[in-house]
Amino acid sequence: MNSSSQIVGVVGAGLIGRAWAMVFARAGIQVKIYDASQPALAACMGLIADLVADMHANALVHEPVADILARITPVATLEEACRDVVMVQENVKETVEAKIEVYAQMDRHAPPDAVLASSTSWLPTSLFTEKLPGRHRCLVGHPTNPPYLIPLVEVSPAPWTSDATVQKAMALYAQVHQEPVLVRKEIHGFLLNRVQGAVLNEMLNLYEQGFASAEDLDKVMKFGLGLRWSFMGPFETIDLNAPDGITDYAARYGHTYAEVSKTQADNRWDAAVISRIEAERRQKLRHDALSTRARWRDNRLMALRRHQQDQPT
Ligand SMILES: NC(=O)c1ccc[n+]([C@@H]2O[C@H](COP(=O)([O-])OP(=O)(O)OC[C@H]3O[C@@H](n4cnc5c(N)ncnc54)[C@H](O)[C@@H]3O)[C@@H](O)[C@H]2O)c1
Repeated sequence: MNSSSQIVGVVGAGLIGRAWAMVFARAGIQVKIYDASQPALAACMGLIADLVADMHANALVHEPVADILARITPVATLEEACRDVVMVQENVKETVEAKIEVYAQMDRHAPPDAVLASSTSWLPTSLFTEKLPGRHRCLVGHPTNPPYLIPLVEVSPAPWTSDATVQKAMALYAQVHQEPVLVRKEIHGFLLNRVQGAVLNEMLNLYEQGFASAEDLDKVMKFGLGLRWSFMGPFETIDLNAPDGITDYAARYGHTYAEVSKTQADNRWDAAVISRIEAERRQKLRHDALSTRARWRDNRLMALRRHQQDQPT
Protein backbone atom coordinates (compact mmCIF):
# COMPACT_ATOMS: atom_id res chain seq x y z
CA MET A 1 0.00 0.00 0.00
CA ASN A 2 1.18 3.55 -0.74
CA SER A 3 2.38 5.05 2.58
CA SER A 4 0.57 8.36 2.00
CA SER A 5 -2.78 6.54 2.09
CA GLN A 6 -1.96 4.71 5.33
CA ILE A 7 -3.05 6.13 8.67
CA VAL A 8 -1.65 5.13 12.05
CA GLY A 9 -3.34 6.08 15.33
CA VAL A 10 -1.07 7.01 18.22
CA VAL A 11 -2.70 6.83 21.66
CA GLY A 12 -0.83 8.72 24.40
CA ALA A 13 1.13 11.86 23.45
CA GLY A 14 3.86 11.62 26.08
CA LEU A 15 7.55 11.03 25.41
CA ILE A 16 7.09 7.81 23.44
CA GLY A 17 3.80 8.64 21.70
CA ARG A 18 5.31 11.85 20.30
CA ALA A 19 8.41 9.97 19.17
CA TRP A 20 6.30 7.35 17.35
CA ALA A 21 4.28 10.09 15.64
CA MET A 22 7.55 11.46 14.29
CA VAL A 23 8.76 8.00 13.15
CA PHE A 24 5.57 7.23 11.20
CA ALA A 25 5.21 10.74 9.75
CA ARG A 26 8.80 10.99 8.55
CA ALA A 27 8.19 7.77 6.57
CA GLY A 28 5.22 9.34 4.79
CA ILE A 29 2.40 7.87 6.91
CA GLN A 30 -0.54 9.97 8.14
CA VAL A 31 -0.74 10.05 11.95
CA LYS A 32 -3.63 10.83 14.28
CA ILE A 33 -2.45 11.40 17.84
CA TYR A 34 -4.67 11.41 20.94
CA ASP A 35 -4.07 11.95 24.65
CA ALA A 36 -6.57 11.81 27.52
CA SER A 37 -4.89 14.88 28.99
CA GLN A 38 -5.91 18.08 27.20
CA PRO A 39 -2.68 19.94 28.16
CA ALA A 40 -0.57 17.01 26.89
CA LEU A 41 -2.46 16.98 23.60
CA ALA A 42 -2.21 20.78 23.26
CA ALA A 43 1.55 20.69 23.86
CA CYS A 44 2.41 17.75 21.64
CA MET A 45 2.65 19.44 18.23
CA GLY A 46 5.10 22.07 19.52
CA LEU A 47 7.28 19.39 21.07
CA ILE A 48 7.15 17.23 17.92
CA ALA A 49 8.03 20.30 15.82
CA ASP A 50 11.16 20.89 17.94
CA LEU A 51 12.10 17.26 17.48
CA VAL A 52 11.67 17.25 13.70
CA ALA A 53 13.58 20.54 13.40
CA ASP A 54 16.44 19.03 15.41
CA MET A 55 16.53 15.95 13.19
CA HIS A 56 16.47 18.17 10.11
CA ALA A 57 19.34 20.30 11.43
CA ASN A 58 21.32 17.10 11.98
CA ALA A 59 20.67 15.81 8.43
CA LEU A 60 18.60 12.89 9.72
CA VAL A 61 15.51 13.98 7.80
CA HIS A 62 15.70 15.66 4.43
CA GLU A 63 12.13 16.66 3.75
CA PRO A 64 11.01 20.15 4.81
CA VAL A 65 9.99 20.10 8.50
CA ALA A 66 6.54 21.49 7.65
CA ASP A 67 5.81 18.59 5.27
CA ILE A 68 6.45 16.02 8.00
CA LEU A 69 4.42 17.95 10.58
CA ALA A 70 1.52 18.30 8.14
CA ARG A 71 1.02 14.53 8.32
CA ILE A 72 0.37 14.60 12.09
CA THR A 73 -3.08 15.56 13.38
CA PRO A 74 -3.96 15.80 17.06
CA VAL A 75 -7.48 14.44 17.60
CA ALA A 76 -9.90 14.97 20.49
CA THR A 77 -11.10 11.40 21.06
CA LEU A 78 -9.66 7.92 21.13
CA GLU A 79 -12.44 6.84 18.77
CA GLU A 80 -11.23 9.33 16.16
CA ALA A 81 -7.61 8.21 16.63
CA CYS A 82 -8.68 4.65 15.77
CA ARG A 83 -10.85 5.45 12.74
CA ASP A 84 -9.60 4.12 9.34
CA VAL A 85 -6.17 3.19 10.67
CA VAL A 86 -3.91 0.27 9.70
CA MET A 87 -2.41 0.23 13.19
CA VAL A 88 -2.89 1.81 16.60
CA GLN A 89 0.31 2.31 18.59
CA GLU A 90 -0.59 2.61 22.30
CA ASN A 91 1.66 4.64 24.64
CA VAL A 92 -0.23 5.22 27.89
CA LYS A 93 1.16 4.70 31.35
CA GLU A 94 2.84 1.44 32.26
CA THR A 95 0.18 -0.35 34.33
CA VAL A 96 -1.86 -3.43 33.45
CA GLU A 97 -5.07 -1.60 34.46
CA ALA A 98 -4.40 1.35 32.13
CA LYS A 99 -3.53 -0.93 29.22
CA ILE A 100 -6.68 -3.07 29.77
CA GLU A 101 -8.89 0.01 29.75
CA VAL A 102 -7.35 1.56 26.66
CA TYR A 103 -7.16 -1.72 24.72
CA ALA A 104 -10.90 -2.32 25.28
CA GLN A 105 -11.58 1.03 23.60
CA MET A 106 -9.04 0.47 20.82
CA ASP A 107 -10.56 -2.93 20.05
CA ARG A 108 -14.02 -1.39 19.94
CA HIS A 109 -13.15 1.50 17.63
CA ALA A 110 -10.35 0.34 15.29
CA PRO A 111 -11.16 -1.34 11.95
CA PRO A 112 -11.29 -5.16 12.31
CA ASP A 113 -8.03 -5.70 10.41
CA ALA A 114 -6.02 -2.98 12.21
CA VAL A 115 -3.07 -4.09 14.36
CA LEU A 116 -3.24 -2.98 18.00
CA ALA A 117 0.36 -2.53 19.18
CA SER A 118 1.53 -1.53 22.66
CA SER A 119 4.77 0.27 23.48
CA THR A 120 4.88 -1.34 26.93
CA SER A 121 8.44 -1.85 28.18
CA TRP A 122 7.80 -4.90 30.34
CA LEU A 123 4.23 -6.25 30.14
CA PRO A 124 3.43 -9.34 28.03
CA THR A 125 0.48 -8.83 25.63
CA SER A 126 -1.56 -11.59 27.26
CA LEU A 127 -1.76 -9.61 30.54
CA PHE A 128 -4.01 -6.97 29.01
CA THR A 129 -5.71 -8.53 25.95
CA GLU A 130 -7.07 -11.91 27.06
CA LYS A 131 -10.74 -10.92 27.26
CA LEU A 132 -10.91 -8.90 24.03
CA PRO A 133 -13.01 -10.06 21.06
CA GLY A 134 -10.15 -8.88 18.81
CA ARG A 135 -7.29 -10.33 20.83
CA HIS A 136 -5.88 -12.05 17.71
CA ARG A 137 -4.79 -8.61 16.39
CA CYS A 138 -3.00 -7.48 19.56
CA LEU A 139 0.72 -7.53 20.26
CA VAL A 140 3.54 -5.55 21.82
CA GLY A 141 5.72 -3.35 19.61
CA HIS A 142 8.27 -2.16 22.15
CA PRO A 143 10.42 0.73 20.88
CA THR A 144 13.78 1.80 22.20
CA ASN A 145 13.93 5.37 23.42
CA PRO A 146 14.23 7.49 21.32
CA PRO A 147 12.81 5.40 18.44
CA TYR A 148 13.60 8.08 15.83
CA LEU A 149 17.31 7.49 16.57
CA ILE A 150 17.44 3.91 17.87
CA PRO A 151 15.53 1.69 15.45
CA LEU A 152 15.04 -1.56 17.42
CA VAL A 153 11.39 -2.60 17.92
CA GLU A 154 10.62 -5.79 19.84
CA VAL A 155 7.50 -7.44 18.43
CA SER A 156 6.04 -9.73 21.07
CA PRO A 157 2.76 -11.51 20.29
CA ALA A 158 0.51 -13.34 22.77
CA PRO A 159 -0.21 -17.04 22.20
CA TRP A 160 -3.52 -16.00 20.57
CA THR A 161 -2.06 -13.33 18.24
CA SER A 162 -2.48 -14.36 14.60
CA ASP A 163 0.53 -14.86 12.33
CA ALA A 164 -1.00 -12.37 9.90
CA THR A 165 -0.98 -9.70 12.64
CA VAL A 166 2.66 -10.40 13.44
CA GLN A 167 3.64 -10.23 9.75
CA LYS A 168 1.71 -6.99 9.28
CA ALA A 169 3.32 -5.34 12.29
CA MET A 170 6.83 -6.46 11.31
CA ALA A 171 6.28 -5.18 7.76
CA LEU A 172 4.92 -1.81 8.91
CA TYR A 173 7.81 -1.23 11.34
CA ALA A 174 10.32 -2.13 8.61
CA GLN A 175 8.50 0.20 6.21
CA VAL A 176 9.05 3.12 8.63
CA HIS A 177 12.79 2.30 8.84
CA GLN A 178 12.74 0.56 12.21
CA GLU A 179 14.44 -2.79 12.89
CA PRO A 180 11.79 -5.19 14.17
CA VAL A 181 12.83 -8.36 16.00
CA LEU A 182 10.42 -11.14 16.92
CA VAL A 183 10.13 -12.35 20.52
CA ARG A 184 8.99 -15.92 19.85
CA LYS A 185 7.53 -16.62 23.31
CA GLU A 186 6.15 -14.22 25.88
CA ILE A 187 8.56 -13.10 28.56
CA HIS A 188 8.45 -10.21 31.02
CA GLY A 189 10.77 -7.42 29.78
CA PHE A 190 11.20 -8.92 26.28
CA LEU A 191 14.83 -9.01 25.05
CA LEU A 192 16.47 -5.61 25.32
CA ASN A 193 15.52 -4.81 28.90
CA ARG A 194 16.48 -8.30 30.02
CA VAL A 195 19.93 -8.00 28.43
CA GLN A 196 20.30 -4.48 29.83
CA GLY A 197 19.21 -5.81 33.24
CA ALA A 198 21.81 -8.60 33.16
CA VAL A 199 24.59 -6.07 32.45
CA LEU A 200 23.36 -3.62 35.10
CA ASN A 201 22.97 -6.37 37.72
CA GLU A 202 26.56 -7.51 37.12
CA MET A 203 27.85 -3.93 37.23
CA LEU A 204 26.02 -3.35 40.53
CA ASN A 205 27.47 -6.57 41.95
CA LEU A 206 31.02 -5.66 40.92
CA TYR A 207 30.56 -2.16 42.37
CA GLU A 208 28.95 -3.38 45.60
CA GLN A 209 31.71 -5.92 46.16
CA GLY A 210 34.36 -3.21 45.72
CA PHE A 211 35.96 -4.37 42.47
CA ALA A 212 35.84 -0.98 40.73
CA SER A 213 34.43 2.54 40.81
CA ALA A 214 31.20 3.36 38.98
CA GLU A 215 33.23 5.49 36.57
CA ASP A 216 35.59 2.65 35.67
CA LEU A 217 32.69 0.23 35.27
CA ASP A 218 31.10 2.68 32.80
CA LYS A 219 34.44 2.82 30.96
CA VAL A 220 34.30 -0.96 30.48
CA MET A 221 31.31 -0.34 28.25
CA LYS A 222 32.09 2.99 26.60
CA PHE A 223 35.77 2.36 25.80
CA GLY A 224 35.47 -1.43 25.57
CA LEU A 225 32.46 -3.57 24.86
CA GLY A 226 30.20 -0.75 23.69
CA LEU A 227 32.49 0.19 20.80
CA ARG A 228 32.08 -3.22 19.21
CA TRP A 229 28.51 -3.66 20.34
CA SER A 230 27.42 -0.37 18.75
CA PHE A 231 27.61 -2.00 15.32
CA MET A 232 27.70 -5.77 15.90
CA GLY A 233 26.06 -8.07 18.40
CA PRO A 234 27.81 -10.16 21.07
CA PHE A 235 27.33 -13.39 19.04
CA GLU A 236 28.76 -11.71 15.94
CA THR A 237 31.61 -10.41 18.13
CA ILE A 238 32.71 -13.77 19.49
CA ASP A 239 32.38 -15.30 16.01
CA LEU A 240 35.39 -13.11 15.13
CA ASN A 241 37.29 -13.48 18.41
CA ALA A 242 38.69 -16.94 17.62
CA PRO A 243 40.25 -17.90 14.27
CA ASP A 244 37.59 -20.52 13.44
CA GLY A 245 34.45 -18.78 14.63
CA ILE A 246 32.01 -19.19 17.45
CA THR A 247 32.53 -22.94 18.08
CA ASP A 248 36.26 -22.37 18.31
CA TYR A 249 35.63 -19.44 20.72
CA ALA A 250 33.35 -21.60 22.88
CA ALA A 251 35.92 -24.43 22.93
CA ARG A 252 38.62 -22.01 24.14
CA TYR A 253 36.65 -19.89 26.61
CA GLY A 254 33.21 -21.45 27.14
CA HIS A 255 34.17 -23.37 30.27
CA THR A 256 35.55 -20.15 31.84
CA TYR A 257 32.31 -18.26 31.15
CA ALA A 258 30.36 -21.21 32.59
CA GLU A 259 32.50 -21.11 35.77
CA VAL A 260 32.16 -17.31 36.08
CA SER A 261 28.38 -17.51 35.64
CA LYS A 262 28.22 -19.51 38.90
CA THR A 263 29.59 -16.43 40.71
CA GLN A 264 27.23 -13.95 39.02
CA ALA A 265 24.52 -13.49 41.62
CA ASP A 266 21.20 -11.64 41.40
CA ASN A 267 21.22 -8.05 42.57
CA ARG A 268 18.66 -6.44 44.87
CA TRP A 269 19.26 -2.85 43.69
CA ASP A 270 19.96 -1.93 47.29
CA ALA A 271 19.11 1.73 48.03
CA ALA A 272 22.35 2.29 49.96
CA VAL A 273 24.44 1.09 47.01
CA ILE A 274 22.48 3.25 44.58
CA SER A 275 23.09 6.30 46.87
CA ARG A 276 26.83 5.69 46.75
CA ILE A 277 26.74 5.53 42.95
CA GLU A 278 24.55 8.65 42.90
CA ALA A 279 27.14 10.49 45.03
CA GLU A 280 29.92 9.39 42.68
CA ARG A 281 27.90 10.48 39.64
CA ARG A 282 27.00 13.88 41.14
CA GLN A 283 30.69 14.64 41.67
CA LYS A 284 31.19 14.14 37.93
CA LEU A 285 27.90 15.68 36.80
CA ARG A 286 25.99 18.17 38.91
CA HIS A 287 22.27 17.65 39.22
CA ASP A 288 21.50 20.92 37.43
CA ALA A 289 23.62 19.82 34.45
CA LEU A 290 21.65 16.62 33.79
CA SER A 291 19.45 18.09 31.04
CA THR A 292 22.42 19.69 29.23
CA ARG A 293 24.17 16.35 29.34
CA ALA A 294 21.04 14.63 27.99
CA ARG A 295 21.14 17.05 25.06
CA TRP A 296 24.81 16.14 24.52
CA ARG A 297 23.84 12.45 24.56
CA ASP A 298 21.16 13.05 21.91
CA ASN A 299 23.67 14.79 19.68
CA ARG A 300 26.17 11.94 20.09
CA LEU A 301 23.40 9.48 19.21
CA MET A 302 22.51 11.49 16.12
CA ALA A 303 26.13 11.49 14.96
CA LEU A 304 26.40 7.75 15.59
CA ARG A 305 23.15 7.10 13.73
CA ARG A 306 24.36 9.12 10.73
CA HIS A 307 27.59 7.11 10.76
CA GLN A 308 25.66 3.81 10.96
CA GLN A 309 23.37 4.81 8.10
CA ASP A 310 26.43 5.41 5.88
CA GLN A 311 27.90 1.96 6.56
CA PRO A 312 26.98 -1.43 5.09
CA THR A 313 25.88 -3.84 7.83
N1 LIG B 1 10.13 6.33 28.45
C1 LIG B 1 10.82 5.34 27.87
O1 LIG B 1 12.05 5.33 27.84
C2 LIG B 1 10.07 4.22 27.21
C3 LIG B 1 10.73 3.42 26.27
C4 LIG B 1 10.02 2.39 25.62
C5 LIG B 1 8.68 2.17 25.95
N2 LIG B 1 8.07 2.96 26.88
C6 LIG B 1 6.65 2.69 27.19
O2 LIG B 1 5.85 3.63 26.51
C7 LIG B 1 4.65 3.87 27.27
C8 LIG B 1 4.50 5.38 27.50
O3 LIG B 1 5.63 5.84 28.21
P1 LIG B 1 6.06 7.39 28.20
O4 LIG B 1 7.46 7.43 28.68
O5 LIG B 1 5.71 8.01 26.88
O6 LIG B 1 5.07 7.99 29.32
P2 LIG B 1 4.56 9.49 29.49
O7 LIG B 1 4.15 9.62 30.91
O8 LIG B 1 5.52 10.47 28.91
O9 LIG B 1 3.24 9.53 28.56
C9 LIG B 1 2.06 8.81 28.83
C10 LIG B 1 0.92 9.63 28.22
O10 LIG B 1 -0.26 8.81 28.21
C11 LIG B 1 -1.36 9.67 28.49
N3 LIG B 1 -2.47 8.83 28.92
C12 LIG B 1 -2.65 8.22 30.12
N4 LIG B 1 -3.80 7.51 30.11
C13 LIG B 1 -4.35 7.68 28.87
C14 LIG B 1 -5.53 7.20 28.23
N5 LIG B 1 -6.39 6.42 28.88
N6 LIG B 1 -5.76 7.55 26.95
C15 LIG B 1 -4.90 8.36 26.29
N7 LIG B 1 -3.77 8.87 26.85
C16 LIG B 1 -3.50 8.52 28.12
C17 LIG B 1 -0.85 10.62 29.56
O11 LIG B 1 -1.64 11.80 29.63
C18 LIG B 1 0.57 10.89 29.04
O12 LIG B 1 0.61 12.02 28.18
C19 LIG B 1 4.77 3.05 28.56
O13 LIG B 1 4.10 1.83 28.40
C20 LIG B 1 6.29 2.83 28.66
O14 LIG B 1 6.63 1.66 29.37
C21 LIG B 1 8.71 3.98 27.51
